[in-house]
Amino acid sequence: MTTETQQSTDGGGVATSGETLTVTDNRTGRTYEIPIQDGTIRATELRKIKVDDDDFGLMTYDPAYMATASCRSAITYIDGDRGILEYRGYPIEQLAENSTYLEVAYLLIHGHLPSRQELDEWDHMITIHTFVHENVKEFMQGFRYDAHPMGMLLASVGALSTFYPEASAIKDPEVRYTQVIRLLAKMPTLAAFAYRHNRGMPYVYPDNDLSYPANFLSMIYKVAELKYNADPRLERALDVLFILHADHEQNCSTSAVRSVGSSQVDPYSAIAAGVAALYGPLHGGANEQVLRMLRRIEHKDNVPDFVKGVKAGNERLMGFGHRVYKNYDPRAKIIQRACYDVFEVTGTNPLLDLALELEKIALEDEYFIERKLYPNVDFYSGIIYEALGMPVEMFPVLFAIGRTAGWIAQWLEMIDDQEQKISRPRQIYTGPRGQQYVPISER
Ligand code: ACO
Repeated sequence: MTTETQQSTDGGGVATSGETLTVTDNRTGRTYEIPIQDGTIRATELRKIKVDDDDFGLMTYDPAYMATASCRSAITYIDGDRGILEYRGYPIEQLAENSTYLEVAYLLIHGHLPSRQELDEWDHMITIHTFVHENVKEFMQGFRYDAHPMGMLLASVGALSTFYPEASAIKDPEVRYTQVIRLLAKMPTLAAFAYRHNRGMPYVYPDNDLSYPANFLSMIYKVAELKYNADPRLERALDVLFILHADHEQNCSTSAVRSVGSSQVDPYSAIAAGVAALYGPLHGGANEQVLRMLRRIEHKDNVPDFVKGVKAGNERLMGFGHRVYKNYDPRAKIIQRACYDVFEVTGTNPLLDLALELEKIALEDEYFIERKLYPNVDFYSGIIYEALGMPVEMFPVLFAIGRTAGWIAQWLEMIDDQEQKISRPRQIYTGPRGQQYVPISER
C-alpha cells in the first residue's frame, strides 16, 4: 500500500505540535495529518480527502449536531458532567443570588459587568422603550380569542421588523444597538398583551416607574387599581427565573437565531425564529409536561408505582435527563429553593412535595444513577410558574422573555465573527436521479 502523507494545515487550523489527527484513507492508501485545535478538527479539512480530482471530498454526517461545533463563543460555558453553568465566566449561582435580569442581559451582551453608571443608563434605556406602536397592539387584537400566546409572540416579534425597517442595517453598530434595546424592552410588553388577549382582558400599557419584572407583572395582572404593586418576593422570583433562562449556549432556538441571522436578516426576524424553535414541546414545553405528570401521579403513595413504570420503559420521567448535563442541572437547584420564597406569598402547592418525593426516589434508584439522569431546569420551573398564577400556555412565553438576552448576545457575536458565513449544511442525497417527466394524462 502506498502511503503518501499530506500535511493539511490551512483553513485557520493552527495546531500546537503533536496536536494532530492522522487519517489513512483505505480507498487510496493516502495518509493525511489534520490539525486538532480546541479538541476539534475542521470539517473542511476532510474535504481534502479525495479519491480523485473530481471527488467533492469527504464530509461529516451529523444529524442533530451531536458532535459538531458550529461556532466559537465567549458567552456561556457549560460543563455537563460537573453541573456547571457560567455566563461570561460568572457562575449562575452567584448571578441568581446577587444580580438582576437586566444586569445579566448587559453582561451577556457586552461581555462584562456594568459600572453603576452603565447599569443605570442601560436600565433607563430599556425602561423608556417598553411601549409598542399602537398598530402593533391592533395587530395583536386581530388574533382569534383563543390564540396561543406563544404564536402571538412569534408573529408580533417578527412584525416589529416592519415598524423599524432601519433594523435591516445590521452592520451599523448604532442601529444595531437601538434594536437590542427595543427587543429587550418590548418583549415583556408583547408577551403580556398575548396573555391578556387570551384572557379576554384589556391590554395594560407598561408602567415605567416599575422594575423590569414588576412592570411585567403589572401588565399581566393589573385590573382596576391605579397602580399595580407586585409582592417584592414574586418580583424577585420572576427576575431569577429570567436570569436562569437567559442563555444556554448553542441550543435549538439559539442555533435557529444564528442560522436565520446568518442570512443577514434584521434581528426581529432572527429572534422570531428563536421564538418559533422554543414553541416546540421538546424545547420550551417540557415544564408543562412535568405539571401534567405530577397531577397524574396525584399522591406520594403512587410515586413508587410510577417510577416502576418509567423503569419498564412505559414512559419518561419528565423534567429528568438532559443532552448536556449528566449531573444535577444547577438551574434546577436554584429554582427548587426559589419555590419556597414564592410559596411564602402564594401558599404551598402540594405538587412541590410530590416533586421532591419523586426526585428523592429517582436519585436513589440504580436506573437513574446508571444513566446519569438528574432533574433539569424544567422539573421545578412549571411549579413556580403555576404558583405565580401563569397558565401553562404562558410557560414558553416566559422562557422566551428570559432567553431574549442570550439570543441577542449570540446574534451580535455571530455578526462580528469573521469566520461565519451564511449557514448552509450539506446533505447526503438519497432520492432518484435522471427521471423523465411524464405528462399527467399518461400517468
Ligand atoms: N426518564 C426515563 N428514562 C430516561 C429519561 C427520562 N426522563 N431520559 C433519558 N432516559 C433514558 C433513556 O431511555 C435511555 O435509556 P437506555 O440507554 O436504556 O435506552 C438513556 O436514559 C439515555 O437517554 P437518551 O434519550 O439517549 O438521552 P438524550 O440526551 O437523547 O435525551 C432528553 C435528553 C431529551 C432531555 C431526555 O432525557 C428526556 O426525554 N427527558 C425528559 C424530557 C425533559 O425533561 N426535557 C427537558 C430538557 S431541558 C430543556 O430543554 C430546557
